[in-house]
Amino acid sequence: MTGVTRNILASARAMATGLLGFALLAPLPAGAQEAVPEKDPESGFVIAEGWEVVKAQCTVCHSAKLVTQNHGTRHHWAYLIRWMQETQGLWQFPEPMQAQILDYLAEYYGPKDSYRRRPLPPEARPENPYKRAENVSG
Ligand code: HEC
Repeated sequence: MTGVTRNILASARAMATGLLGFALLAPLPAGAQEAVPEKDPESGFVIAEGWEVVKAQCTVCHSAKLVTQNHGTRHHWAYLIRWMQETQGLWQFPEPMQAQILDYLAEYYGPKDSYRRRPLPPEARPENPYKRAENVSG
């Protein structure tokens, strides 16, 4: 077997187990992608740097669920915070605290797609069982 063949087989295996997608995403520490992150049983917040600040600041007016069910970029979170400050009586945060809150939210409650592995390349996908029905109706 040539080295190239071996590599192809190895990547096919990696794709089959989803490991390739896992490797392509990388922003989280190794293991965190597939492992269920540890969460605070009380609030449901992912336990990671900054979570206690977020819990303390962001559950005063509404439940933590409102926060944890939301997802978005850092920009989205900054926008929401500004909106709450301008219209909902949210106080201003000192700059380092605001940065810490945004880092945490963007990392653990980022755009939803970033939590999924990328789609497999077409040749690695199983046949689409709905294709035929679609052709018939369409
Ligand atoms: C001073 C009160 C207050 C605090 C503190 C507060 N919020 Fe809010 N927030 C609100 C209100 C009021 C709403 C609107 C609730 C509703 O629509 O039922 C809201 C809504 C939200 C929403 C839902 C927005 C949407 O699109 O529906 C999110 C997400 C959110 N807050 C996140 C946060 C985060 C993150 C923090 C901490 C940085 C925080 N909130 C702290 C008052 C607050």
